[in-house]
Amino acid sequence: MARIETIGVVGAGQMGAGIAQVSAQSGYQTLLWDANGAALESGTASIRSQIQKMKEKGKITDKDAASALDRLKAAGSLSEFAKADLVIEAIVEKFEVKAALLGELSNLVQPDAIFASNTSSISITRLAAASGRPERFIGMHFMNPVPVMKLLEIIRGLQTSQETYEASSQVAERMGKTCVLAIDSPGFIVNRILVPMVNEAIFLLQEGVRPEDIDNAMKLGTNQPMGPLALADFVGLDTLLFILQILHRELGDDKYRPCPLLIKYVEAGWHGKKTGRGFYTYS
Ligand code: 3HC
Repeated sequence: MARIETIGVVGAGQMGAGIAQVSAQSGYQTLLWDANGAALESGTASIRSQIQKMKEKGKITDKDAASALDRLKAAGSLSEFAKADLVIEAIVEKFEVKAALLGELSNLVQPDAIFASNTSSISITRLAAASGRPERFIGMHFMNPVPVMKLLEIIRGLQTSQETYEASSQVAERMGKTCVLAIDSPGFIVNRILVPMVNEAIFLLQEGVRPEDIDNAMKLGTNQPMGPLALADFVGLDTLLFILQILHRELGDDKYRPCPLLIKYVEAGWHGKKTGRGFYTYS
């Protein structure tokens, strides 16, 4: 099995930056790139600040922090990914945009490299077909915040090879993640269960229950670290709506219909924490 030494991450948003941070801290040479230069800058700045905080808390030594930062490079262009052994994409959840990126990468990156997608709900088999290397394509679905959450969902597409599966599982293990093997079905495991639960909480809000009562009920009654509405704000209401629409459309069951109140909030531009307003307001 080819040894993975260099990991390229495309997309420097919350998820991509988190993946790049964990990758660099786990000893991989890491390249991070984003089509948006400002996003790349803020993604790398947030990694630096997270590593600095870990250092201050004594969770990482000065030496380990410095070497993790040394291994991390913001790439000037995608062509720097030519020698990557594994490329993980964490860009916008739009099939056409992902397919175009994968097509571009397949011409740039060495043919033996593995491509992985952090998609939360798009078919891995469909993305694999667009990548030009379906045997070396796999789903690696990280949870937010990536450096904190232990889980990694691995999703094999119809044509994913055993070697690709084993190589990506080894990367996950070196990153300190515990893997579960999901099937290539909308929402995989976590979002298939979590997102309808959050949607139900929004229905309760729409029916007049106060947000703090919904969140306290689930925090204190089921030991969740944050209530479903706070979690919705944290994940992003636009992302949540997108996942619900995919579940609804592809599984064909009305139990996944997005709550009308969620649709209204997204239409209003209230996308949660990142826009300063969701079910709660943020300064
Ligand atoms: N990056 C790195 N570290 C972070 C972080 C971030 N973005 N946010 C918090 N942390 C660290 C803090 O530094 C802190 O570390 P410490 O214990 O060493 O001090 C630790 O996490 C706890 O953070 P806080 O004390 O600030 O706050 P909480 O105790 O409330 O924890 C939380 C925050 C970890 C986000 C916790 O509330 C939680 O686990 N929430 C649920 C998250 C969840 O369910 N994620 C999955 C979402 S679904 C998903 O991602 C799938 C996607 O496809 C939609």
